[in-house]
Amino acid sequence: MAVTKAVIPAAGLGTRFLPATKATPKEMLPVVDKPAIQYVVEEAARAGLDDVLLVTGRNKKPLEDHFDRMVELEETLAAKGDKDKLALVQQASAIATVHYVRQGDPRGLGHAVLAAAQHVGDEPFAVLLGDDLIDARDPLLETMIAVQEREGGSVVALMEVPRESVSLYGCAAVEDATGDVVRITGLIEKPAVDEAPSNLAVIGRYVLSPTVFAVLRATPPGRGGEIQLTDALQELISMEPVHGVVFRGRRYDTGDRLDYLKAVVQLAADRDDLGPPLLEWLREWLPGRP
Ligand code: G1P
Repeated sequence: MAVTKAVIPAAGLGTRFLPATKATPKEMLPVVDKPAIQYVVEEAARAGLDDVLLVTGRNKKPLEDHFDRMVELEETLAAKGDKDKLALVQQASAIATVHYVRQGDPRGLGHAVLAAAQHVGDEPFAVLLGDDLIDARDPLLETMIAVQEREGGSVVALMEVPRESVSLYGCAAVEDATGDVVRITGLIEKPAVDEAPSNLAVIGRYVLSPTVFAVLRATPPGRGGEIQLTDALQELISMEPVHGVVFRGRRYDTGDRLDYLKAVVQLAADRDDLGPPLLEWLREWLPGRP
């Protein structure tokens, strides 16, 4: 069955970015000049998933406004004849059909995914985590969908990380780590470095079989007292094939402040309009720093 739906958990409080996130959802923080969440919705749409479900919570109304029409602003820009800005405003409401469900009591990533059960129904679906941005030039989700359609079951995106970083991620044990598509034999959420089965970290892209919903309903709270998606996937391995796609492209983490700053600089440096003057300024400015 074809994958048509994407689920994006967006109920987190974003406490790492306080006070910016006191009254603004962290998903709305700009990465250069576009809210982080728009990159993720665009990625889903590029992979052919134009039915997007955002799992939100309290204080997330700006997300709904962002993906809706903004008629007054559009009229003002149209009256001024500012076609470029008008296009930018209209773009966000035309990327995909965006639906919303609220998570209620946020009890972890697995719990957020479970909130999508009714919308998704009995078909495979993608999950995209908003803290991870995948460069538009390096296809990942398209490959994962193709693997799911060929192999069935579920597919998880993996990335090689330095050993000492593995405890920040879900970590996979795999059958044969030489290729870019691997059979996953075990998953563990944020293992201690000496307990990690590999240096393959789960990055925030999944194509999941709907069987995961039944498993999630039976998954007890795990690490941090939260219902972990990784724990449900570990259980799923005994029921259905779970594959990993090893991503070797460009990924930007926006989950903490330093990584967020790096993401903004890297993406701005790549832009035709901002890159050349930004790099020129950085070259002048950096040598004068201690
Ligand atoms: C979540 C997942 C983890 C995964 C990570 C990817 O963790 O639980 O398995 O490796 O996303 O970004 P979080 O970063 O939300 O703590």
